Amino acid sequence: MDAAISELQKPFLDESQIASSRTIMGLDTQLINDGTYFIVEADGEIAGCGGWSRRATLYGGDLSPGRSAALLDPEKDAARIRAMYTHPHYTRKGVGRLVLSLCEDAARAEGFRKVEMMATMAGEPLYRACGYETHERLVDDRGGAPVPLLRMGKPL
Ligand SMILES: CC(C)(COP(=O)(O)OP(=O)(O)OC[C@H]1O[C@@H](n2cnc3c(N)ncnc32)[C@H](O)[C@@H]1OP(=O)(O)O)[C@@H](O)C(=O)NCCC(=O)NCCS
Repeated sequence: MDAAISELQKPFLDESQIASSRTIMGLDTQLINDGTYFIVEADGEIAGCGGWSRRATLYGGDLSPGRSAALLDPEKDAARIRAMYTHPHYTRKGVGRLVLSLCEDAARAEGFRKVEMMATMAGEPLYRACGYETHERLVDDRGGAPVPLLRMGKPL
């Protein structure tokens, strides 16, 4: 995660924005406790990770303020896609696409009919390639420098 945040955002953000993004990225351990987080291994190394959630928090790690563990209603709410990271040694090999499809299948199996996430600029090309559309553009400056984000989603 650290390597992905530091290296893979460089084409999209400046150094102060990458530093700022650490406040709003990283792992929310609730995902691990819920059993909704995936790791992809290649040759015994972690190539990537990512998960989904049936809880209200849209984005953020353990250090991010304002998270909510409230359960979503599959009838009307969108399941969340959370904390997608590919190690820089394994990019553009389909790891992100694989994790996303595992998350979508799991959310669908629990009855959700749509999925949503807060995308970074680095994540946008993956999500767009996988059929997600932008619902809202915003900026999060809780970490200092303003970090552009996109709320994206798609029907399942
Ligand atoms: C976003 C991220 C997880 C993508 O991981 P990945 O494993 O390289 O993605 P995939 O190999 O599955 O890519 C699938 C498709 O998405 C698109 N895509 C992914 N990364 C892209 C990039 N940097 N530029 C352009 N298109 C990209 C392509 O269409 C790609 O298919 P192709 O390689 O056949 O052209 C990775 O770049 C990352 O960790 N970024 C930093 C952390 C981050 O911002 N995470 C998102 C949080 S919302």
